[in-house]
Amino acid sequence: MIRSHAAPSVLGMHPSFDALMEITSRPPVVFVEGRGSWLRDQSGKDYLDFVQGWAVNCLGHCPDAITNAIAAQAARLLNCSPSFYNEPMIRLSELIARHSRLHQTFFTNSGAEAIEGAIKLARKWGQKYRNGAYEIITMDHGFHGRTLAAMSASGKPQWERLFEPKVPGFPKVQLNDLEQVERAITANTVAVMLEPIQGEAGVFVASDAFLRDLRVLTQREGILLILDEIQTGIGRTGKFFGFEHAGVEPDIMTLGKGLGGGIPLAALVAHQDVCCFEQGDQGGTFNGNAFATSIGCAVMEEIAKPGFLPQVIQTGAYLAERLQALSRKHQCGGLRGKGLLLAIDLGRKSGPRVVTQAFQRGLLINAPRQDSLRFMPALTVTNEEIDQMIDILDEVLEQMERILK
Ligand SMILES: Cc1ncc(COP(=O)(O)O)c(C=O)c1O
Repeated sequence: MIRSHAAPSVLGMHPSFDALMEITSRPPVVFVEGRGSWLRDQSGKDYLDFVQGWAVNCLGHCPDAITNAIAAQAARLLNCSPSFYNEPMIRLSELIARHSRLHQTFFTNSGAEAIEGAIKLARKWGQKYRNGAYEIITMDHGFHGRTLAAMSASGKPQWERLFEPKVPGFPKVQLNDLEQVERAITANTVAVMLEPIQGEAGVFVASDAFLRDLRVLTQREGILLILDEIQTGIGRTGKFFGFEHAGVEPDIMTLGKGLGGGIPLAALVAHQDVCCFEQGDQGGTFNGNAFATSIGCAVMEEIAKPGFLPQVIQTGAYLAERLQALSRKHQCGGLRGKGLLLAIDLGRKSGPRVVTQAFQRGLLINAPRQDSLRFMPALTVTNEEIDQMIDILDEVLEQMERILK
């Protein structure tokens, strides 16, 4: 529970939302405060948060490591322009290189912008080293963000006819089907891009064998492997990066979400052999600013502490065990995912209703598809908080079963 006492909200109890663009359906509450796994709304009601800003707040809400880093950096230097080096930018690029064994980073402000950078870098590499090849094979149901090229690279069926015409050059194949990838490779192919776990699609895992075979195939064909680690990176699966489970190394990876622990920060990271941008090819006003990158350093240093990632594996295993037991009790389906990115198959299309009922009882979870619930708590979530979450979900499922009888 949140124990601090925030200043009262300036909005009044019945705020108007009319001046905001309606880009999604939001419940009519206003959040004012957060701590660890807990959020508090304007009326003082507490919520147990298993969404965490969409797998963003990897250390929970307002952890000391981040608030201290914010205060220290805010008093020192915020932004000196991307045309100059700053200390945290250098330090964070070194931390990423050390933990990923890739070599160079370009910092961005959102995951989609990192994906745009990855597409541009691969196309540049194709121009220089593969006779102008530009096509990037991506996966059905993949999700890479909401800029136009990132949407074009995504395989979200609902987006098929949205904002046409899309950016060309993204043939799609099925996840975990190596033969389809092989058949899709042509002289125009420059890369294959995928998420180690398709999070937005509903937590569908790229198998270790598929990732390993893809690495061999892409090397044999002389094309690049791009891994979108925006949701799976920074400890979410119990390893620093999702690809470590399969023991492969990509040529390019994208990071976001957890990297800033709640602050807008993402990154395009690449092997030195692929880093072929020339001056002027890439940039952006806020990219690599000292404020955001100092927070990235604080996050990376926390995750790298001995015992942090083993703890994620342990709490992930505990969450999985409790979800499996709950699923058996309510005759739901199987469990998908790794570490603290998990989903259960409800076996029926009740996901959105379960989410609404859970919200009313003070629990935030997400239904990425009608028949599934996704869990992406803080990496610091405790077993007691997992128990509390399971108790609420149990009540919700029981109540829904009573109504259906
Ligand atoms: C795998 C993946 N790639 C890219 C993105 C886009 O990131 P952002 O929303 O920061 O642009 C997301 C966001 O959910 C994601 O899950």
